[in-house]
Amino acid sequence: MSTQNKISRKTILDIKKMKKQGEKIAMLTAYDFGMASILDDSDVDILLIGDSLGMVVLGYDSTLPVTMEDMIRHTQAVVRGSSKALVVTDMPFLSYQVSQETAIANAGRFLKEADAQAVKLEGGREYADLVHKMTYAGIPVMGHLGLTPQSVHQMGGYKVQGKNDEAAEKIMQDAKILEEAGAFSLVLECVPEKLAADITAALSIPTIGIGAGVQCDGQVLVVNDMLGIYDRMTPKFVKKYANLNLEIRKAVKSYVQEVKTNAFPDEEHSFK
Ligand code: KIV
Repeated sequence: MSTQNKISRKTILDIKKMKKQGEKIAMLTAYDFGMASILDDSDVDILLIGDSLGMVVLGYDSTLPVTMEDMIRHTQAVVRGSSKALVVTDMPFLSYQVSQETAIANAGRFLKEADAQAVKLEGGREYADLVHKMTYAGIPVMGHLGLTPQSVHQMGGYKVQGKNDEAAEKIMQDAKILEEAGAFSLVLECVPEKLAADITAALSIPTIGIGAGVQCDGQVLVVNDMLGIYDRMTPKFVKKYANLNLEIRKAVKSYVQEVKTNAFPDEEHSFK
């Protein structure tokens, strides 16, 4: 097979270069083939198979029940649906917290079985050694600081993090430690914009914000939120670029009405 015309995906080096060149990074979550192909065609730089999958696709109240098998299956679909974006997948709850051996083996499964290019994990200095070992094993790691939804019970809810000086300094130090450990980029979720700006200036790896202000090197949103599909809750940082929930309801109501009244299928959609 000729590889001459093959469009190659963005790599972690491309993403790191974007920060150096001052080009903003656009990241969105994706969970299935169809949406991944639309996002990829629309020039999204990074597709994240977030464990938000648990809430917006599988209907759980939190990300905690998501399994390795859920993540692998959906990562495979996103990889099949895309050819240009860097594909990063979330390590689900308890897939990396129990032991370093299982963490590396689980992270490796995403590269071996699903063709992901990198993994993301939540947490700071406590995972520095693990991030170092994964990176050394050839598994690129994206860090995730601030609001870390897998620790929702520890944090007492989904709340803005780093609001006082001590908490802000801890997040800043964790960011530096993760960079030092080898993380190639860092998600900052729900932190004050000044803190995110300071971290972005202090690091040479890109920061990708969600509820962290405009000074981050890139932004990420949950695609079902920004398209207005998921309507159970809408955090303050979500901008709805469409209201597909309403559009889908309208389309489905028309369909139901046409079926009930024999208006569908008409001649155009029938065979002679
Ligand atoms: O799970 C997810 O979708 C995420 C993003 C919100 C960063 O971690």
